[in-house]
Amino acid sequence: MRNILVLKSSILGENSQSNALSDYFTKQLTANVTIRDLTKEPLPYFESNAIAATRAEPQTDEQRELLDLSNKLIDELKTTDLLVVNAPMYNFGVPAQLKSYFDYLARAGITFRYTSQGPEGLVKGKKAVVILTTGGLHKDRATDLVKCYVSTFLGFIGIVDVEFVYAEALGMGTDAVEKSINSAKLQLDRIIAEL
Ligand SMILES: Cc1cc2nc3c(=O)[nH]c(=O)nc-3n(C[C@H](O)[C@H](O)[C@H](O)COP(=O)(O)O)c2cc1C
Repeated sequence: MRNILVLKSSILGENSQSNALSDYFTKQLTANVTIRDLTKEPLPYFESNAIAATRAEPQTDEQRELLDLSNKLIDELKTTDLLVVNAPMYNFGVPAQLKSYFDYLARAGITFRYTSQGPEGLVKGKKAVVILTTGGLHKDRATDLVKCYVSTFLGFIGIVDVEFVYAEALGMGTDAVEKSINSAKLQLDRIIAEL
């Protein structure tokens, strides 16, 4: 059976649109679904102990725990067939909780390596669906920064089969919200039909 990992990072609790959309998506699939809610169970910021733990031999209990954490997140990703990334736009970027998660994944020699041709991602053969939720309109504009960041990061670690599902204009009134959510659901239905 297919393994699906869902990364949730909304700070809006029950009102989260990205969480509602990823639930809509996964409820229609027969799969082993793991939900990692990075807001309910936040990761520690990736700071000096984390870099010491993951780039060299850990020296302290705290560093050993951080290395274990990074290894656990990478192992979880490696056993995943389909990654669902909920990516709400907050102040033009992804939530800090999602950024921290990505920071723990980026490990030279494990999830990427540098070759004479440049970087090579080592997490291969995965598909990703990224659900992008925004209050305003950003798709194909200079402010489409969440797509740029998430696609660059996933590509860097080797995940290149990525579909972006936009639910925009969520701060632009009830009619706009309804239209946008319906359109996102249709995009998700199409992805399900093609899986
Ligand atoms: C703290 C915060 C910052 C936000 N910043 C932006 C922004 O920079 N651009 C934008 O279009 N929408 C912004 N929004 C609107 C969110 O993208 C929108 O509420 C969306 O539904 C968030 O996804 P979620 O409901 O899954 O949390 C912001 C919302 C919050 C709560």
